[in-house]
Amino acid sequence: MGNKKIFANQKMYMTKQDVETFIKASEEKEYEQLVICPSILYLPLFQDSKFHLGVQNIFYEKKGAYTGEISPLQVKEYGVEYAIIGHSERRTILHETNEMFQKKIDACKDQDIIPIFCIGETKEQYEMHKTNQVLKRQLFDVLKNVKKEALEHIIIAYEPLWAIGTGMIPTNEEIERITQYIKSIINQVFHVSVPVLYGGSVNERNISKLNQISNIDGFLVGGASKSISELLKMYEVVVS
Ligand code: PGA
Repeated sequence: MGNKKIFANQKMYMTKQDVETFIKASEEKEYEQLVICPSILYLPLFQDSKFHLGVQNIFYEKKGAYTGEISPLQVKEYGVEYAIIGHSERRTILHETNEMFQKKIDACKDQDIIPIFCIGETKEQYEMHKTNQVLKRQLFDVLKNVKKEALEHIIIAYEPLWAIGTGMIPTNEEIERITQYIKSIINQVFHVSVPVLYGGSVNERNISKLNQISNIDGFLVGGASKSISELLKMYEVVVS
C-alpha cells in the first residue's frame, strides 16, 4: 500500500437512521483511502456512496446450508473489497478458531476480497513482555496453512486487546517496533511483504501522533469511526 488507509470498523454501534445520517453528511468526493466496514445489514445503503467497502466478518463457504452466515460470493455483489478476519471480539466472544481464520482467508482469495487478519496480545501478555511471542504464534498457526496466493494480498492488523475501546495505547516506538517485527517475520518465513495496520483506541485526538509512525500502512478504527465528522478529521490527517 502506497498511502495510509483508514478502515472504519463500525461494529454493531449504529442504527439505520445513524447510517443514513452518516452517509448524508459525507462529502461529494471520492474517499480513496477510506474503507467503511458497516454492520452487514447496511451494506446496501452504502452502495452508491463514495466509500470503499469492507465487512466485519465473512464465512468460508460460497453457498449452502449455513444458517446466519454470509459468503464472500454474496458480499462481492455489493462491491465489498475487504473482510476483517480474526477480530479479537470474534475470537473471545464467538470462539472462532485458527482453522476458521485460515479457511476464511482462503475463501476471500477466491473472490478477490482482501483479508484483514487481526492479531494482538492481552494486557497480561504485554506486561510479561510476551507480545512478540504471542503475535508470532497467532500469525504462524494460521498463515502456515493458508494458500500461497492468498498470502500475497493479506493485510495484518495489529490490535493489542488492552487498547481496544479502552483509551490506552502503546507508544509510537512500541507500535513501530512491533510492526517491524510482524513485517520481518512474515517476510522471512513466507517471502511476502505485508501491509500492517494499527488498531485500538485511535481517535481524532491521537491520530496526528500515531500518523508519525513511519512503517505502518494505516489504521483500523472502531468506536471513533461511527461519527462522520470525527472520521473525516482523521482522514484529513492521514491523507495530508
Ligand atoms: P476501538 O476498536 O477503535 O474502538 O478501540 C478498534 C477495533 O476493535 O478494531
